This record gives sequence, C-alpha cells and structure tokens, in this order.
Amino acid sequence: MVTIRDVAAEAGVSITTVSRALNESGRVGRATRERVLNAARRLGYEPNDLARSLHGKATGTIAVLVPDITNPFFPELVKGVQEVATAHQKLLLLCQTSEDSEIAVQELLHLRRKRVDGVVLVGGLAASEQLDAALAGLPVVAVDRDTTVDGSRVVRSDHRRGGRLATEHLIELGHEHIAHVRGPAHLSVAQDRHDGYREALEEAGLPYDASLVVEGGFLEEGGYDGLRALRRRRRPFTAVFCGNDLMAIGALRALEDVGLAVPDEVSVVGFDDIHLASYLRPGLTTVHQPIQTLGRRAAALLIGSAMNDEQPASEVLDVHIVRRQTTARHRRTEVR
Ligand code: RIB
Repeated sequence: MVTIRDVAAEAGVSITTVSRALNESGRVGRATRERVLNAARRLGYEPNDLARSLHGKATGTIAVLVPDITNPFFPELVKGVQEVATAHQKLLLLCQTSEDSEIAVQELLHLRRKRVDGVVLVGGLAASEQLDAALAGLPVVAVDRDTTVDGSRVVRSDHRRGGRLATEHLIELGHEHIAHVRGPAHLSVAQDRHDGYREALEEAGLPYDASLVVEGGFLEEGGYDGLRALRRRRRPFTAVFCGNDLMAIGALRALEDVGLAVPDEVSVVGFDDIHLASYLRPGLTTVHQPIQTLGRRAAALLIGSAMNDEQPASEVLDVHIVRRQTTARHRRTEVR
C-alpha cells in the first residue's frame, strides 16, 4: 500500500509538507503543492481515513441508527440522510437498534471506535447511564423522536398536531365514536399523537373513552390484534385512527376478516404516509410526514454543525392529512 512516506520521497519533500499539501492546511507554495499532488496521483496514493482519525481529524463517516429497517418509514428516512451524506462526500453507516437501548449502546461504542464524525439517531430509547456515556461527546442529532441527552438537537414532525388532524378529519365526516390504535406507551411520538386525538375529541365536545383506545406497538400485527380487541370490548365505533400506517394496514385486514366494509361501515386513518399507502386498495387516508425531508434536515444539521455552520437547535416540521379512500362520511349505522 502506498504511504504518505512514499509520496514524500517521490515529490522530494518532507512528510509534513505532503500532509499540509493534501489537507490544504498550513503554508505550502502552489508549485510544491502541485508537485505533491502529481506524485500522489502517479503512485495512486489513497489517504488513510483511519490514520487521519487517529490524529483527531474527520474520517468522512457518519452513522444513522434506526429501530426497525423492516418498517418502510425508516428506509425512507435513511434515504434522506444518505442524500445529504453523499452530497458532502460522507460515507453512511446504517445500524438497527430494534428499539433496544442496550443494542444501541453497543453499536454507539463500536461507532466511536470507528471514529465516526457524528450520528443521526432515531431517539425514544430507554434512558440509561450507559446510553448517556455512549453518546457523550459524540456529535448527535436526534430525528423523529427525542433523546434523553441534555441539549441534544432533534428534527421531528409535529406529532401532536398530526393526531389532532387525523381525528378532526373523522369528526368532520360525522364520526362521533372514534377508536384509536396507539403506538408503544413509552414512546413520546405515540403519546403525542394520542394526546392530539384526545384534544380533538374534547374540543368537539365528544367524550374521551379509554375503552376505545388500544396499543398496537407500531406493527401490522398490533393493528390487527388491536382491532380485534376493540371489537371484543363491544363498544361501538365507526372510525379508527391508527398511530402509524403499519397498524392501519393490520386494522384494514382485521376489518376485512370480520366482514366490515371500509369506509362504508368503518373509516380508517393512518400516520406516516409511507410510499405504499397510496398503493393499498382502498388507498389509505393518512397523516403525511415529510419523511425524507426529516432525514435530509437531520443530516444537514449534523454535518453543518461539524462545519460550524449556523444551524437551528431543533426543527419541528409540519404534517398534513392526505385523504384517500379509507375514510367517508358516517352513515349513522353503528358497528355490528
Ligand atoms: O411507523 C414507525 C413510526 O415510528 C413512525 O410513525 C415514526 O414517526 C416513528 O416514530
């Protein structure tokens, strides 16, 4: 492998001069710099990122940690991060935490040993001294969900407003008995969407009925099982707001299995607007999150701060309803 020492010998200069010429740091005359660059090209010299990192220099690598790569939301988020990383000549490492704080700690310690320049982290991980230690001193931007690290910056959607919009949409269609399949209780995103649902009901003068709320874990099977559990409670409902699109997909399957027509008998709203939402039949009415923009903004915040660009501390991006075919006006027929 060609080393910086070989380039110095080829160019007839010192190793320090080669390092200054290649890093454009320190005073190096134009002619000398050209001589060094030509020698490096002739020898096919590749800067050693690890050697650079050992001297505390940037390695040109960032990482993104997401909970579940099988959920289409996260690959879309990573696509946005990748776009910005590539535009800044950064290599992107992808890690999956499986919503497990201990896994996240192991991955962060490994990334620190790799001298990554920074991390985009989908937060919501259980707080621990180990997680705080693994994040300490590491440039981090949280995306989608907050982290427990004091002062950390986060780029997320307005989850509470999204919950309100979903519920207001159903109320405007005449629904008064609206169920909610919520995400995991420990996640702030799920709590925020639930609180938006509750606020919209109360502002419309409709009672909040806890027996119409069930948890679905942000998973298809959770939406399916949640809908079946709601049916067993025998509380009538004509609409259901699901806290993400995967649970809405599970709920649609459950409604079909019990012979309830969507939207004629039950209206369904999701949250995320993943790419597949418009390809379902009927197409899913949902709350649109600017998923790739979330990724782009988080990466820009991370890389920009490393370049000392002025950046806002945190950003909350707006959401909106995308009306498709799973919602319709209530026809005054209660669920059987
Ligand atoms: O679908 C996965 C959910 O987890 C999304 O709603 C996203 O906001 C993330 O928090």
